[in-house]
Amino acid sequence: MIREIYERRSIRKFSEKPLSKQDIMEIIESGTKAPSSKNRQPWKYIVVQGEAKREMLEAFRTGIKREENGEALLPGSRQHISAAKYTVKIMEQAPVILFAVNPLGKDIFAEMTPEERIYEICNIQSLSASIQNMLLAAEEKGIGSLWICDIYFAYGELCRWLDTEGELLAAIAFGYPEESPGARPRRAVEDVVEWRKDRT
Ligand SMILES: Cc1cc2nc3c(=O)[nH]c(=O)nc-3n(C[C@H](O)[C@H](O)[C@H](O)COP(=O)(O)O)c2cc1C
Repeated sequence: MIREIYERRSIRKFSEKPLSKQDIMEIIESGTKAPSSKNRQPWKYIVVQGEAKREMLEAFRTGIKREENGEALLPGSRQHISAAKYTVKIMEQAPVILFAVNPLGKDIFAEMTPEERIYEICNIQSLSASIQNMLLAAEEKGIGSLWICDIYFAYGELCRWLDTEGELLAAIAFGYPEESPGARPRRAVEDVVEWRKDRT
């Protein structure tokens, strides 16, 4: 999977070509092979396509309008609303949107003890590992993907639309790519590593 790690890109232009159910299931199955804290496997995936996707995007747009019109859940993030609108347009084109839910998750507004917070952080790390597995499995099949957290601009609306137990964490768009973007910049490995050996 080293090739897939290096060659995966976030895809923001998808073709209309549908994905087979088998490919979707194999991608999700690769997500279920991720490591997880205490093997809790805190993941549930909701596949949204077709008419359901149209309804879901309506809920998303309603949330964005609410953010713009004063009842903002994320008042400090106003400058990112136009990017969220662009994300909605990308989701419109993508044949498959997958919602990643943490079935053991707490309400994002819930007060937590440090222990509960650690449990939450471990579950989120596990679910994130699962999402990354899926992006790489998709890449191996020539299927493009976009990990999406702009969903938080319409958090309440999307949770109500999904109507499922647990905490919504992210969405992932999947589809055949209609672009081949170059690699986005990365911080140099030397800049993110600190070596600790003997102190001489
Ligand atoms: C947690 C997370 C949330 C993201 N949310 C969005 C999003 O809402 N919209 C979007 O267009 N890209 C989103 N991205 C994609 C990033 O912008 C992208 O991964 C980054 O710019 C690096 O580009 P690359 O994936 O092509 O290497 C997200 C990525 C991650 C990991």
